[in-house]
Amino acid sequence: MLVAAQEPISRFYAPGHSERELDRLSTQARMYEPFTRQLFREAGLLPGMRVLDVGCGSGDVALLAGEIVGPTGVVVGVDRAAAAIVRARARAKSQRASNVQFVEGDPTLISLVGGFDAIVGRLILMYYADPIDTLRKLLAHLRPGGIVAFQEFDENGCKSHPPSPTYQRCVNWITRTLQLSGAHSSTGLELYRIFQGAGLPAPVLRLDGAISGGQSAPYDALAEVVRSLLPAMEPFGVATAAEVEIDSLALRIRDEVLAANGVVVAPLLVGAWARHQG
Ligand SMILES: C[S@@+](CC[C@H](N)C(=O)[O-])C[C@H]1O[C@@H](n2cnc3c(N)ncnc32)[C@H](O)[C@@H]1O
Repeated sequence: MLVAAQEPISRFYAPGHSERELDRLSTQARMYEPFTRQLFREAGLLPGMRVLDVGCGSGDVALLAGEIVGPTGVVVGVDRAAAAIVRARARAKSQRASNVQFVEGDPTLISLVGGFDAIVGRLILMYYADPIDTLRKLLAHLRPGGIVAFQEFDENGCKSHPPSPTYQRCVNWITRTLQLSGAHSSTGLELYRIFQGAGLPAPVLRLDGAISGGQSAPYDALAEVVRSLLPAMEPFGVATAAEVEIDSLALRIRDEVLAANGVVVAPLLVGAWARHQG
């Protein structure tokens, strides 16, 4: 029997780290890359800096930072999932990014050699129970005057117009599953408070989004998130595999959107940056 739980059942990383999920992270990263690059530019990441990337996943943010800091700089990506670290290291090697290193662990719990000029992260504070406490702990790795720059979702902006019922159902399944796993899919809107709560100045904010229609809109992207979350969705009582019909999901969304000549909006990405005065 399925149980509709009201409170987080447990805190765990619901998408998991299958090879397919690690591929999905890099596909998603290609969509968000210009936004992250722009945030890093505005925040002041420069050649020669030492950068810590929190929750590096498949390594995309760390590799982008590595490109910016160049051969005289260093980037350390940290993730507690061994599979993510294996993937990120392989990618750094194949891209000959010798200035980008990866370490397994939770950067709020481990010591890292040397201070950092910048701490960055994308879609990571949403997975911590107490993001203010998390950021406060991360600041221990930062030199005085260093840069803090994070990007997190505001899932409220994720929609289709005119509404595609299947698209909207997917957004609800994803939001509910993340919530029940203890994650927060609107942490982006909290970044202003999180930075100040951790003792940083009020951050500079930016809001980025992607909207598209027609044959080539990223219907697969949403369906792949559902695929990764499906093993958690079922026991949480959010949706069954029979309801989701994962193998036809992207096509069904596409057909609904095309029939209405509509558009889809990906989850908005809120960026925040500040300099640590401490
Ligand atoms: C959504 S992925 C984001 C990956 C990458 N930042 C990007 O934008 O492509 C979140 C990553 O954070 C990692 N993560 C979650 N909680 C963590 C923690 N407490 N310590 C370290 N890594 C964590 C997960 O293992 C996962 O790889």
